[in-house]
Amino acid sequence: MGMLGDMKVADPEIYKAIRKELKRQREYLEMIPSENFASMNVLRASGTMLNNKYSEGYPGKRYYGGNEFVDVIERLAIERARKLFGVPHANVQPYSGSPANFAVYSALCSPGDAIMGLNLTDGGHLTHGWKASITGRFFRSVPYHVKEDGYIDIQEARRLAIENRPRLIWIGSTAYTRELPFEEFATIADECGAYLVADISHVAGLVAAGVHKSPAQHAHIITTTTHKTLRGPRGAMIMVTEKGQRKDPELPDRIDKAVFPGLQGGPHDHTTAAIAVALLEASTPEFADYARQVVKNAKMLGEELMRKGVKLVTNGTDNHMLLINLTPFGKSRGVLAQEALEAAGIVANKNTIPKEPGSPFYPSGIRIGTPAITTRGMREGEMREIAGIMAEVLNQAKDYELPEDAAKREAYMRRYRKEIKANKAIKDARIKTLELCSRFPLYPEMRL
Ligand SMILES: Cc1ncc(COP(=O)(O)O)c(C=O)c1O
Repeated sequence: MGMLGDMKVADPEIYKAIRKELKRQREYLEMIPSENFASMNVLRASGTMLNNKYSEGYPGKRYYGGNEFVDVIERLAIERARKLFGVPHANVQPYSGSPANFAVYSALCSPGDAIMGLNLTDGGHLTHGWKASITGRFFRSVPYHVKEDGYIDIQEARRLAIENRPRLIWIGSTAYTRELPFEEFATIADECGAYLVADISHVAGLVAAGVHKSPAQHAHIITTTTHKTLRGPRGAMIMVTEKGQRKDPELPDRIDKAVFPGLQGGPHDHTTAAIAVALLEASTPEFADYARQVVKNAKMLGEELMRKGVKLVTNGTDNHMLLINLTPFGKSRGVLAQEALEAAGIVANKNTIPKEPGSPFYPSGIRIGTPAITTRGMREGEMREIAGIMAEVLNQAKDYELPEDAAKREAYMRRYRKEIKANKAIKDARIKTLELCSRFPLYPEMRL
């Protein structure tokens, strides 16, 4: 019997949708940089009956009985996180990246305090103080930006920090393709007395493997999701560094209290087990090879795209991600390019670019990444093929332009989708991506 047991009979609708999703993941090039394919053991751990347990509290200090084995699991996850990231304290209970970041605020800030983060349309995350997020409403958000060349404007950040004396400064991003300047931000935070929090959600796997600089010496706190380059289950961790402990010996305790009981109830023990499995995997030489290949692939993809005339923000990448600037092709093109790429079998996401002329919903960029396709085993040769396919698809979409009048956009998109689907070059591209996927089977041992 497969993973889904008798679900085919018991719940055929969900069974069918899960089967279709597996087929989709197998047959498309997954290039959303925040996604990855967790190992079978990570999936197995998160699919266990650990789901059934309530464990409010922390190992050895629970509010419920029956936590003997959950304590073993959580202690292992904590120990592995501490070792992998070189930190004295780790909390592995946050449900995901956004609540982890909110727990940090609640440990350090009071409503109305000034906080700083990279502006969302410059590559920052919602939870770093964007106006539509609760973090931009509870706190006085002072965003810093990237310069014309796409690199973080460290001078501006320093000036704003000195003027505004923020309580905390985020360094981290969701769409920044260069190494994060941890050291420079540590100097700024120290100068104005702020806590520096490194949100390494995107690059955690690269940091673990030593392929991206570690913030452990520079930040007071590190937050990360566990499901991106780290290749674990959907979850998050908050870590306190030695520097953080020196600034405030109570910090570990404040973080723990902010997560539980401050923000959350019972931890998701099945996720904790899967995090522990992923952390063990991330400490192996094979994972270090994987992380190195992720970056090599991203660099090769970027070089090949640029050779074919595609414009990239900062003209390349240091990490797993590329940001394509579509403004040479006209206005608000991200949404059109995303649909054309998907029709050709490449899943990417529309994204804002620095100095965005559109809006977050109709942005001018496309964000792509190599973590998932590298997990499938693809290397530089395949990146050259993919760059060729992408450039051709973007070329096919380039004469379309989203109407200025928002009321006309839905009808325009319907017609656009039809034309893209019928486009011969895009159909040819789809054949190529299907062939590529079949050469690198995903979860070959998985039976549903
Ligand atoms: C830098 C960064 N922080 C936090 C998050 C939030 O994570 P989640 O989606 O798990 O809430 C993300 C997710 O995209 C992210 O990129």
